[in-house]
Amino acid sequence: MLDKKVADLLNTQVNKEFYSAYLYLDFANFYVEQGLNGFANWYQVQAQEERDHALLFVKYLQNNDMPVTLEAIDKPNIPLKNNMDPLQAGLKHEQYVTSLIHTIYDAAYEIKDFRTMQFLDWFVKEQGEEETNASDMIKKMEIFGSVAKGLYLLDQELAARAYSAPSLTL
Ligand code: FEO
Repeated sequence: MLDKKVADLLNTQVNKEFYSAYLYLDFANFYVEQGLNGFANWYQVQAQEERDHALLFVKYLQNNDMPVTLEAIDKPNIPLKNNMDPLQAGLKHEQYVTSLIHTIYDAAYEIKDFRTMQFLDWFVKEQGEEETNASDMIKKMEIFGSVAKGLYLLDQELAARAYSAPSLTL
């Protein structure tokens, strides 16, 4: 059995990860409308990864005999007006998710819940990578995105991203 506060935070994180998937699907849809299918692909893959993250939290709770409550997922409502908007919103969102993971870690640390801390270690590392990816995309867009040929090549690069299952198994 997990501590109630830790279990509640883990359950909330299920919803946050599904929201992340929803948000990134919204970004992908925006880029489809702009004719940037590579950017759209990148965010479709990201949405799949976020769904995987949600399912990892579900599995961890279940492995610890805790019930899982699925709450309503918020509507993505970040206004997207230009090709940079999703990238900047994506970085901000990942920084927020990092803070959520740290909050759960804090709660687990406080009660010496080493098992949950070990489970969260993967997410701490993953968040570092996701923030780096998000900030790299902004830098590339700043350098190449303002000329048509640069944007075209960047879109092609992002089209190459392929989905792979998470390295964490439970
Ligand atoms: Fe599941 Fe992008 O953090």
